[in-house]
Amino acid sequence: MTERPALQIRGLSKSFPSNGNGTTHALRGIDLDLRPGEFIVVVGPNGSGKTTLLNLLAGDFDADAGQIVLNNGKNGTAWLKMPRWQRATYLARVHQDPRRGTAAGMTVWENLRLACSRQRVPLPWSFAPPTHDRQWFIDRLERLGLDSKIDSRVAELSQGQRQLLALELAILREPVLLLADEHTASLDQANAKKCLEATVALSQESGVTVIMVTHNLMDALNYGDRLIVMRDGAIERDVSRNHDASLQLNELIALCGYVA
Ligand SMILES: Nc1ncnc2c1ncn2[C@@H]1O[C@H](COP(=O)(O)OP(=O)(O)O)[C@@H](O)[C@H]1O
Ligand SMILES: [Mg+2]
Repeated sequence: MTERPALQIRGLSKSFPSNGNGTTHALRGIDLDLRPGEFIVVVGPNGSGKTTLLNLLAGDFDADAGQIVLNNGKNGTAWLKMPRWQRATYLARVHQDPRRGTAAGMTVWENLRLACSRQRVPLPWSFAPPTHDRQWFIDRLERLGLDSKIDSRVAELSQGQRQLLALELAILREPVLLLADEHTASLDQANAKKCLEATVALSQESGVTVIMVTHNLMDALNYGDRLIVMRDGAIERDVSRNHDASLQLNELIALCGYVA
C-alpha cells in the first residue's frame, strides 16, 4: 500500500445568518493537520462547530474562507476546489441516525455488493480489488455479529445492527477519511462499544484517517489518538495522547462546559 494522503486545513471559516439579524460564526479560522491513520476524536459543547467542520470537509457547504490541501507525497491538491463527486470518492461518512447510509429495502448482502460496485476514479494507492466472494463478506460480518443477517432486509435489523452495517459499508468504500458524527450516540452500550471498536480497527488496520465526534468523554479519552476540543467555532485544545497523557476527565468536562 502506498503512503496515504494527509490533509492540511488552514484558516477554515464559516458563518451562517442567525435567526435574528446577526451572524453565527460556526467556524473561526480553523487550522488542523490530519495525518494518515490518525484516530481523531472531536468533542465540545453543542453549537461549537463540530458538525460544520465535517460538513465543510464533505462539501455539504462551501467555506467562507480558508483552504484544505490534500497532500499525497507529490504536489498538494486543493481539496475544496475538487469537484464534489471526486472529493466524495475519498470520503465516507457515518451519521448519528443509522438509517442514513443504508438502503432499507435491500438485503444486507445487496447493500454490501452495492458499496463495492461504486464506480471510482483511479486512486493512487492499492487495496484488494472488490472481487470478493460471498464468504469474504460473511467473514467480515462475523466480526460484527451480523453474519446470520446477510440475507435479511435492512429494515428488519435493529438500530445497532444497522449502524454496524452502515460503518461496514463506509469501510468498503476504502476512504482516505472517515467522518463519524456521534455515530454511537443512539446505540445501546454493547452496540456502541462494538461500533466504536470497529471504527478504531479501521484506522489501525487500513490507515484510514478518522474524525469522530462524540459527547462521550470517556470514549474520547480511551480511544482517541488525538483529542480536539472545540468551543465557539475554534479549537480550544488539540492534544495527542502520546504527548499529553495527563489530560484528565475532570479537565475535559470543564473544557467542554459539561456539568460533572
Ligand atoms: N445550516 C445552518 N444554518 C444556520 N446555522 C447553522 C447551520 N449549521 C450550523 N449552524 C450554526 O452553527 C453553529 C455550529 O453548529 P454545529 O456545527 O452544528 O455545532 P455542533 O455540531 O458542535 O453542535 C451553531 O450555532 C448552529 O446553530
Ligand atoms: Mg453536531
